[in-house]
Amino acid sequence: GLKIVTIGGGSSYTPEIIEGFIRRYEELPVRELWLVDIETGKEKLEIIGNLAKRMVKKAGVPITIYTTLNRREALPNADFVTTQFRVGSLDARIKDERIPLRHGYIGQETNGAGGMFKALRTIPVMLEIDHDMAELCPDAWLINFTNPSGIVTEGVLRYGKTKKIIGLCNVPIGMEMAVAKLFSVDSSRIRIDFAGLNHMVFGLSAYLDGNDITKSVIDKIADGKMGSTVKNVMNIDWVPEFVTGLSIIPCPYHRYYFKRQELLEKELEEFSKGETRAEIVKKLEDELFQLYKDPELDSKPSQLEQRGGAYYSDAACRLISSIYNDKGDIQPVDTLNNGALAVISPDSVVEVSCVITKNGPRPLTMGELPIEINGLVQQIKSFERVVIDAAVTGDYKKALLAMTINPLVSSDTMAKVLLDEMLAAHQKDLPQF
Ligand code: NAD
Ligand code: G6P
Ligand code: MN
Repeated sequence: GLKIVTIGGGSSYTPEIIEGFIRRYEELPVRELWLVDIETGKEKLEIIGNLAKRMVKKAGVPITIYTTLNRREALPNADFVTTQFRVGSLDARIKDERIPLRHGYIGQETNGAGGMFKALRTIPVMLEIDHDMAELCPDAWLINFTNPSGIVTEGVLRYGKTKKIIGLCNVPIGMEMAVAKLFSVDSSRIRIDFAGLNHMVFGLSAYLDGNDITKSVIDKIADGKMGSTVKNVMNIDWVPEFVTGLSIIPCPYHRYYFKRQELLEKELEEFSKGETRAEIVKKLEDELFQLYKDPELDSKPSQLEQRGGAYYSDAACRLISSIYNDKGDIQPVDTLNNGALAVISPDSVVEVSCVITKNGPRPLTMGELPIEINGLVQQIKSFERVVIDAAVTGDYKKALLAMTINPLVSSDTMAKVLLDEMLAAHQKDLPQF
């Protein structure tokens, strides 16, 4: 049987992953699931732990649930470690969103100034986890959801010990589900060739039962039939000729770049009413934990679908299962490029369709990206690499460079204003600065 450790176990998303393991029990025999959190998450962890125990009991599967605030107690001999934690909790996210908005810039969890600060807070903690794993479970796979997922994954590959880290996101899976819905078929019949970076990924081609349907998908998107596929990115329709001209499938997050003005206006409108996404999520989370506390509840409540990361556990469980069972199927993950995307250096992390075996992901060759978008993808990668160096060194100049070259900031003066204010606001979670 398998031992799985989930770091950030007190997350309101956890019932999803429990449900995922229960549903796949036949092919993925999990014996021990350790949920790890920290002191400030103690209460949440306890509620989640009890709900998880009720869920496995009801399902009648022999998965034993453990909870602990000491990750070193959980890690020994783990087969898979999954990470889904938030350094500084939602209060830090509120600052990431509100500070840029107050200055008239996009305030977002994984993009622009906010995404940069989430990376600065998270990478040092991930490197500590990597360090503990090298000692206590050196052969384990590290499946990372912690955002910004692609940057965090590359940070570990550049500065950590393990080579067995894989980043994940629910966006590609959500895009395949949305295309399946457009064609009224089961999503197992849809495959998209994904290439790009996390939250900057494109579908180069789409297939139904192996037949190319890209053009018809593009036409449907141009007709506004497929909106934003995640709850946290506002849905504003694309200009039809933009989509047909682009002729590859954008992800919801591209709206921050190609609809920056409209999205910013919408965000500012919400902001003036006093609410950013983080505050909406806080309310949702309170509701969810009220439900989770109910001793009668023994399954995942549907309210969880209001969270942007809905269905993330499908991505996690199917990845773990394909590694464990050496399936050789194709899944989009965040992994070393290794030549798959010609315009990105081989030692950088990309989000790309990969063949998954027990040796991990092997990316499929995607060649050149269309000229219209490869500049943006490369610029975001430059930004990501400078952010990683800033996170590891605590170097102010590197941080200022990163902020300035981010396309959602693009001004050295404003980058400095944002950087200084955000460094001060997040001081307790940024010991390296
Ligand atoms: P959350 O605020 O509920 O945090 C989850 C838990 O992490 C909390 O219980 C918190 O106490 C705990 N935590 C904080 N620091 C920790 C540490 N050092 N060690 C262990 N636990 C720690 O967050 P959430 O909304 O559940 O999201 C969790 C993470 O997953 C975030 O980073 C979020 O961005 C990410 N996420 C990613 C995807 C994706 O597509 N990759 C999807 C959904 C969520
Ligand atoms: C998905 C993303 C995640 C992100 C989440 C935010 O779009 O893929 O990476 O963390 O949604 O959802 P939330 O409900 O927290 O706003
Ligand atoms: Mn994501």
